[in-house]
Amino acid sequence: MTASLATVAYIGATILFILSLGGLSNPETARRGNLFGMLGMGIAVVATILGPRVTAIGVPYIVGALVVGGAIGLIAAKKVQMTQMPELVALMHSLVGLAACLVGFSSYVDTSVAYTGAEKVIHEVEIYIGILIGAVTFSGSIVAFGKLSGKIGGKPLLLPARHLLNLAALLVVLWYGREFVLAPDVNAGMTPLIVMTVISLLFGIHMVMAIGGADMPVVVSMLNSYSGWAAAATGFMLSNDLLIVTGALVGSSGAILSYIMCRAMNRNFISVIAGGFGGGAPAPKAAGAAAEPQGEVQPVSAAETAELLREAKSVIIVPGYGMAVAQAQHTVYEITKLLREKGVNVRFAIHPVAGRMPGHMNVLLAEAKVPYDIVMEMDEINEDFPEADVSMVIGANDIVNPAAQDDPSSPIAGMPVLEVWKARTSIVMKRSMASGYAGVDNPLFYKDNNRMLFGDAKKMLDEVLGALKA
Ligand code: TAP
Repeated sequence: MTASLATVAYIGATILFILSLGGLSNPETARRGNLFGMLGMGIAVVATILGPRVTAIGVPYIVGALVVGGAIGLIAAKKVQMTQMPELVALMHSLVGLAACLVGFSSYVDTSVAYTGAEKVIHEVEIYIGILIGAVTFSGSIVAFGKLSGKIGGKPLLLPARHLLNLAALLVVLWYGREFVLAPDVNAGMTPLIVMTVISLLFGIHMVMAIGGADMPVVVSMLNSYSGWAAAATGFMLSNDLLIVTGALVGSSGAILSYIMCRAMNRNFISVIAGGFGGGAPAPKAAGAAAEPQGEVQPVSAAETAELLREAKSVIIVPGYGMAVAQAQHTVYEITKLLREKGVNVRFAIHPVAGRMPGHMNVLLAEAKVPYDIVMEMDEINEDFPEADVSMVIGANDIVNPAAQDDPSSPIAGMPVLEVWKARTSIVMKRSMASGYAGVDNPLFYKDNNRMLFGDAKKMLDEVLGALKA
């Protein structure tokens, strides 16, 4: 393939990636967006392999790597449960970071192209920054994987003087950056490069360890953004325009998503990055703050739940992580259809961080073919709870926790929540009294108008469906 044809293919792939992002912004066009993305990536890979920069000797190696990598990806994607998706994504991000580090080191030791003067400085700065971002992304994503999969506890690790530590690390990295660029040869430059890599790896670990459970969504999207910038840095090191553009697209869309997440959770972006939010030692209780949840919970049976639903005129369903675990979305829709046929106004309320990844609930409901017009964002529906007869919480916990509003000492204080307790009756479906991802008690369970339907969400909803049909 000639260089100009490869360039045309790259431009085509870039356009497809932009169309893909556009498509993914709406559930109705998401499938098409995915197709555009896959097509763009296919074109990009083929144009790179057949392009002028890969020699005939290199092709078998690349094809071999493609087969191995593709097979691993295929098996992982087939085996992974929907609930493990965020962990898989975190692992993928770590690979992007690792690739940026490896490309950085190899382009530094590769002396086949002799850079001089300003060009040498620019190339070395690219390498230094590329490895820095790559190393932070790599170690941060591995820790995020550990936290999301429960292998590492969700509590934030708060080292004493952690901000000072971070600042010191930054200064050392800047100092060694100067040393690296001034180094007379590759051997002399290797020490600063390795020191910086180790510091960046430690920083990545520290950054994610310091973040509390409830703020993990922001970290996941932030690492997504970092992986984009790491890919863009790789593009600079390899002088590959498509990689630069694609990396920048991922980097900026990830940054926008992180910002949206922060706003949805009423968090300050900088504070989340600086760490220590979402857990840790509770602040002293403010005067008049809510006390520990106490009182009795009121269990209900599936039959009683069916009765409450049958008598309702307006029902709001709040799905959460437990619905994903139980794979209860199809039964939820069966119940929805049945109620709607009986004239009940049924709507779904989606919290921006419900589940374990952005859009998690939307994907599950779309899979069950729930019409989009009854699936509402939090801001659209939160005011409607007082008019609802029943709010049905399916495997959600943190996103419906009134302590976020009432208890300033709560680790999730200030996070907007769905006000399900304002409905005439709220029903919470979960297996036990266990807390959710943020590890915070939920006073909702003890409210007078709340009922608990204990059990696996799928099993209980099947029973409710059975009772409704009877
Ligand atoms: P959670 O607060 O984690 O609560 C889920 C509840 O589902 C648990 O309390 C659990 O209680 C119940 N459950 C689990 N399996 C179940 C099953 N088979 N049947 C019925 N119930 C089941 O979930 P949420 O309300 O969706 O809130 C999301 C949380 O995850 C937030 O803290 C958020 O910050 C965090 N997070 C979100 C994301 C994104 S991007 N969405 C990413 C990382 C973290 P039992 O064990 O008693 O059943």
